[in-house]
Amino acid sequence: MSSRIDELVSRMTWDEKLGQLQIVFRPNPDDAAALVRRGIGSTFWPPSAAATNALQRVAAEETRLGIPLLVGLDVIHGQRTIGPIPLSQAAAFDPGLVRELAHLAAREARSGGVTWTFSPMADVSRDPRWGRVSEGFGEDPLLTSLLVAAMVEGYQGDDLSAPDAIAATAKHFVGYGAGEGGRDYNGADLSERALRTVHLPPFDAAVRAGAASVMAAFTSVSGIPMHAHRRLLTDLLKGEWGFGGVVVGDAEGVANLVPHGVARDVPDAVRQSYHAGLDIEMGGAPLSLTADDLAPGRLDPARIDDAVRRVLRLKEALGLFENPYVDPAAEITAPDAASRALVRAAAARGSVLLQNDGVLPLVDPRSVLLTGPYATSTDHLGAWVQFFGAHAGTVADDLRARRPDLDLIVEEGADFLSLDDTGIAAAAEAARHVEIAVVLAGEPSALSGEAASRSDLALPGRQEDLIRAVAATGTPTVVMLVTGRPLVVAGWIDHVAAAVVVWHGGTEAPAAIVDLLLGEAEPAGRLPMSFPRSVGQVPIHYAHENTGRPATTGGTLTVEHHDVGLHGPGNVENKYTSKYLDLPLGPRFAFGHGSGYARFAHEAPRVSTSIFSAEGPRDETVLTVEIEVRNVSNRRGDEVVQVFARDVVATVTQPVRRLIGFARQTVDAGATATVTIPVRRECLALWRDGWVVEPGAFELHVGGSLDATQVVMIAAE
Ligand code: IFM
Repeated sequence: MSSRIDELVSRMTWDEKLGQLQIVFRPNPDDAAALVRRGIGSTFWPPSAAATNALQRVAAEETRLGIPLLVGLDVIHGQRTIGPIPLSQAAAFDPGLVRELAHLAAREARSGGVTWTFSPMADVSRDPRWGRVSEGFGEDPLLTSLLVAAMVEGYQGDDLSAPDAIAATAKHFVGYGAGEGGRDYNGADLSERALRTVHLPPFDAAVRAGAASVMAAFTSVSGIPMHAHRRLLTDLLKGEWGFGGVVVGDAEGVANLVPHGVARDVPDAVRQSYHAGLDIEMGGAPLSLTADDLAPGRLDPARIDDAVRRVLRLKEALGLFENPYVDPAAEITAPDAASRALVRAAAARGSVLLQNDGVLPLVDPRSVLLTGPYATSTDHLGAWVQFFGAHAGTVADDLRARRPDLDLIVEEGADFLSLDDTGIAAAAEAARHVEIAVVLAGEPSALSGEAASRSDLALPGRQEDLIRAVAATGTPTVVMLVTGRPLVVAGWIDHVAAAVVVWHGGTEAPAAIVDLLLGEAEPAGRLPMSFPRSVGQVPIHYAHENTGRPATTGGTLTVEHHDVGLHGPGNVENKYTSKYLDLPLGPRFAFGHGSGYARFAHEAPRVSTSIFSAEGPRDETVLTVEIEVRNVSNRRGDEVVQVFARDVVATVTQPVRRLIGFARQTVDAGATATVTIPVRRECLALWRDGWVVEPGAFELHVGGSLDATQVVMIAAE
């Protein structure tokens, strides 16, 4: 413990200590200054370098101990330069890209005085009804874990006091992504096994990457709201995992313990939260309390001292005691050319080609129709960009500027709410006179993010009618799908020649979309979340466990001595197998689906060893998978090699497949690349009162997607 912190804590009054344990939630600057004078230790960004400095000056010069402020903000996918939403970043299957984008965000944010972001979101979610899937990395624990770690590294760098570093917050600890029915803030009944194998790993990864803070979730987990969950906040996070950073509450999450029904009143809620392991309350609940409510006898002084030390340690690591100010002249207030180039490439890199009959990319098109709400919409930024005055242009303007020679018809298709029969008929009529029709369809940013759950996952408004009407003209039709979540595409996907998911791509999304249309970039991302066939299938994810009566249309599951056809490939006609009577098996597009314009052939995969030791350090690499990937097309492109495992026989049921490694590789036309993917022991372990690798056989499935894999057998002993 630093002597500065010991010395400070020894001098602090009880009220000064409690002041350090609160953040002022989005105050106006005058209120913030008054609260800082009262000793509040953290605030939301004011929002400019000058305003931040002014508040830091109040803390430094007008409070007894002059302790600097933590300045927090939801910098989720950019500060001034908005990158693609995290779900799009996940689709890029590229931790390096996530690190780079986070570093850019950190540089811009810190230049304005922000020292603490409430990101990354580490919640695994398998329910696209939940609006916050846009802010996370999808349905898979390993992909999420690797990207969460990369984002933490990108924000924090090696030294939090550097002018381009901010403290990261892994949120929302834990189970927020599992809310029942996909409804925001809903509770989740989670077994220890579900927590350990699905929901906790990304937080573990964040802690191992050095995340400075963790935010408690609004969720209750098996009946205990996370803001009062001592076993998870203190015993597991701070105890078992040794997390030495700050646990911050979510906005009003402490006061929410009252409606949750576990606290009598706000004082009770505050006491329960600090006791459970919360270090900073967000929302102001303690401010409304009397000295008596929070008297030393009613809160554990040792716990409060521990929380204060954690907060001061973070301030010290950020270098704020030495210099709480930033240079207003160096504040980055607008994207520069390099940051624009980065987010443009990133938006394309996370785009996913759902299907393509060869119409894409458009080779030297002469006449094109752009229609649909996103032809002329600027709504490409996604959730959490309201603080910065960021904006994007439109696809129509970008294409027009880049191809003045093109016979371009822009039939706006109106905004998605007012699209009607007249607009649809006009678009269809225009489609008859062009070579290619491009429908820019999607879901507005406001329909994803916080408090944006949907029960219907179809395109909003009349967009599906628009797509079908345009496609019915016989003109090859391409759909570019702007969205913050997986959608149900059943109403139109089989009518169109090609479809690309471009997500909410950020500041440079329109340019990236045009790059993809013209073939100047590859849509070689892969889905980080399955696209269901219908809402009735949700939650759906690839890594489900088998029932005793799995339905299959083929595949690898065979069971000897079966007698009634319950098992084995192709048993889907058997009534007594696990399925919906009214749907084909599986999602419409599964996790990992996607291709790109280039095409690839894979040689047989090789493993460095077919037998590995079940015992040993969890993060030890136990084998590597190697595969030759040949680009059999005439253009440079990217392949995403994915390695899945199935534990063939285990003491507890295991997922039919689980991702254990991946690599994205660029390969020149006609060239071959060797892709090497290391596999760590923990990726083959299961949870049974602790992590164990059970001796026995594992199938490894190696390929460019779930359904295009080659199998290699390995064993643990
Ligand atoms: O960080 C967010 C959190 O994700 C949801 N509630 C509000 C917080 C602060 O803005």
